[in-house]
Amino acid sequence: MNVTSKARLKIKNKTIELPVVEGSEEQFGLDISRLKADGGCTTYDNGFANTSSCMSSITYVDGEKGICRHRGYDIVDLAENCMFVEVAYLLVHGQLPTAQELNRFSRYLNQHSMIHENMHHFFSGYPADSHPMGILASMVTSLSSFYPLLSHKDPNFDITAARLISKVRTIAAFSYKKSQGEPVVYPRHDLSYCANFLNMMFSSPVACYDINPDIVTLLNKLLILHVDHGQNCSATAVRLVASARANLYASISAGICALWGPLHGGANQAVIEMLNKIKNDGRNIHKYIQKAKDKKDDFRLMGFGHAVYKNYDPRARVCKRLCDEFLPKLGIVDPLLDIALELERIALEDEFFISRKLYPNVDFYTGILYRAIGIPTNMLTVMFALGRLPGWIAQWNEGVESSTKIYRPRQIYIGPKKRAFIPIDKRKKERAHRNIH
Ligand code: CMC
Repeated sequence: MNVTSKARLKIKNKTIELPVVEGSEEQFGLDISRLKADGGCTTYDNGFANTSSCMSSITYVDGEKGICRHRGYDIVDLAENCMFVEVAYLLVHGQLPTAQELNRFSRYLNQHSMIHENMHHFFSGYPADSHPMGILASMVTSLSSFYPLLSHKDPNFDITAARLISKVRTIAAFSYKKSQGEPVVYPRHDLSYCANFLNMMFSSPVACYDINPDIVTLLNKLLILHVDHGQNCSATAVRLVASARANLYASISAGICALWGPLHGGANQAVIEMLNKIKNDGRNIHKYIQKAKDKKDDFRLMGFGHAVYKNYDPRARVCKRLCDEFLPKLGIVDPLLDIALELERIALEDEFFISRKLYPNVDFYTGILYRAIGIPTNMLTVMFALGRLPGWIAQWNEGVESSTKIYRPRQIYIGPKKRAFIPIDKRKKERAHRNIH
């Protein structure tokens, strides 16, 4: 930890000094870990929006400039030049793989792609309309029963990471097949990571899936664009659960649950639902812009705004470009794309969105791209999870390796002060006395 200077803080009559820590990209933070002991108080930071909960060398995000780098590499360069498996390796190991390392990692992905046959029964127990994110979270927790030995102490974390990345892909495809009432399609050793997933999703005993290299390329890029994003809600959930020394599966499962929320990764599903609603409501875009601005209306423009980016999300910029490039290539004309483009144009000219620095985020265009691949709307957040998995694994590993303290935020208590106990037969009268019904 690099302490560059000290800040002086006066609390009531006491002055205390707080070390100022510096990161590698000129980010500064006040180390307040002794604030309670030395100054008698804690900080209050709703949603931890201004709190750095850890030191991390995985992802750097500059929200003002719209920069996102993984292990020092720009996300745009990675999406342009890499396969998803290479980027997964980068996240987990800290450097891009050599050809030999990539071969080994890919071999592990193949070797560990099947799930235990007994797990197949689990899928049948869910109602047909179950959300695949719920199934995914449960299945990942269940892996701990079938592969209990996995831990970061495994001398070969490569295998642990590859096993999880590979099996989660299989689980995702199986949950889709089960929801369709179709037999599952097993992974194949001769296919690349993305081609394998597409084949498991769309092939059937009666019809082979013709693997389109353009779709494979697009899927690779989409997964890379989701690979990590610093201490967001799901990564924090992973690290929080890991801080109690819970196992990898339990921690990742917590991340999946956090991601499911519509303010986080669930936004990609919500965007498509919103665009469909606008389409079916006479394409009345202005009405929905007005709703988003109306403080009395709960409606928000899904896929817009970001807790960190106060500029165009670089991932959204790539996705918008991918729509231009790949939809014509795949011969797809999606009416939702026109609505999304028009929605963006109107919002970015509106003072409400300009003054609040609300721009499209990663989820705004990804649903349209996944639709072009053939992914159904309720699987969109599962696709986000597939992409994010290497990031979660890296976050888990970093947290565990750094022997992080157990996450235990404080609170400012605002409940009742100490009061006398009331026996049950006197409570009604006491409430009436206080006018509480
Ligand atoms: N539509 C309309 N108004 C918005 C939106 C939106 N999408 N986002 C923020 N605002 C307004 C909000 O009402 C508030 O206005 P005011 O200052 O007048 O009260 C102001 O902008 C700041 O909002 P906030 O909720 O304090 O901002 P935040 O940084 O805490 O929230 C966010 C970030 C992503 C939760 C929020 O922008 C949002 O709800 N967006 C829609 C959901 C979404 O697209 N989520 C995906 C996020 S990116 C990928 C990911 O994390 O998985």
